[in-house]
Amino acid sequence: MHTQEQSAAALSYQSGFGNEFASEALPGALPEGQNSPQKVPYGLYAELLSGTAFTVPRSEARRTWMYRIRPSARHGQYQRLERQIAGRELGPVTPNRLRWDPLEMPPAGTDFIDGLVRIAANGEGEQPNGASIYRYAASASMERVFFDADGELLLVPESGRLRLVTELGVLEVEPLEIAVIPRGMKFRVELPEGNARGYVCENHGCALRLPDLGPIGSNGLANPRDFLAPVAHYEERDEPVRLVQKFLGELWATDLGHSPLDVVAWHGNNVPYKYDLRRFNTIGTVSYDHPDPSIFTVLTSPSAIHGMANIDFVIFPPRWMVAENTFRPPWFHRNLMNEFMGLIQGAYDAKAGGFVPGGASLHNCMSAHGPDHVSTEQAINAELKPHKIENTMAFMFETGQVLRPTRHALECPQLQQDYDACWAGLTKTFDQNGK
Ligand SMILES: [Fe+2]
Repeated sequence: MHTQEQSAAALSYQSGFGNEFASEALPGALPEGQNSPQKVPYGLYAELLSGTAFTVPRSEARRTWMYRIRPSARHGQYQRLERQIAGRELGPVTPNRLRWDPLEMPPAGTDFIDGLVRIAANGEGEQPNGASIYRYAASASMERVFFDADGELLLVPESGRLRLVTELGVLEVEPLEIAVIPRGMKFRVELPEGNARGYVCENHGCALRLPDLGPIGSNGLANPRDFLAPVAHYEERDEPVRLVQKFLGELWATDLGHSPLDVVAWHGNNVPYKYDLRRFNTIGTVSYDHPDPSIFTVLTSPSAIHGMANIDFVIFPPRWMVAENTFRPPWFHRNLMNEFMGLIQGAYDAKAGGFVPGGASLHNCMSAHGPDHVSTEQAINAELKPHKIENTMAFMFETGQVLRPTRHALECPQLQQDYDACWAGLTKTFDQNGK
């Protein structure tokens, strides 16, 4: 490890989304005026990490130049690991609504990679679309370093802080914050509180970006300045370090004689970043009904069909409910899009029970769902005064392609067998003589 001063410096951030950032941990380490000079300052090597094809439109292009102690190319053969990520195999297709209890905390010594469980997927790493959805429960900091060749990672902690030591610097992330790590970027997950639990969306498609705002205008929802990228931070450690990669769904490892987190300076826009969900500028109705949940989109990954997301990351944050003459919970619906939901904090306004922090639910295309019967009765009979929903943070990974649950998710003890029962109390109230 390097000095204390460098660790402290690594906790400052650069603000903005999609910016061409630049950062150096040693003065003058960043070459001036060109990307790959004949001799890089301090005897560093120049290396490009591309996040998009070279010839995409400029507005789409993501890449970062790194100036590092050793080039990434210096490694031996990768060997397939015996222990793979749980949930590699997809299960039988079911149109049923599914809901899961939280994961138990795992045995001591379970790091972030061993603590990952894939729940559902609609793509794999070899195609440039789709996503895989995981939960994690970990009890040990990673000693190895990891990168994901199959996709960009969106991390949603539910309990326990994460310290993400990446090639470009350090991100400290706590529940109610999220982090995104670009495809292929090396990182290590440390657990300052000893254990951690949460959710991960592995995005195989276009990189996440802020949604367009349309008539909302130039402010609102997640504001660009609230996204934080790290500053340069490097490890000069000449000792054995295992580097693990995920490639086409499988874990492979090679043993290095040094830390691969050795980038002394960098510039570019293909960067890890974090965002505090409490900064979200929530917009909703001030008259009647409520808008579609797309109004809560934090980040989106577009698909080839204009307006149809590959992945939308949507949150349901604390907010005022003021709609008049309105059924205020999320309405009953059958959607084209497929919805995976999780809960970070508190309760969700459409469910009186059964959906708790760390839990999850899956409602696929045309699956009928909505508030349970207890929430429905309360909403129909409520006196509609302005009311603030507090202490809540639910989220949704919404996708354009059906999410197939993994066999592990269908067979695990956390799968609730009685989820349908939460709507069974919705009895007939129709009266042809009533109005
Ligand atoms: Fe829904």
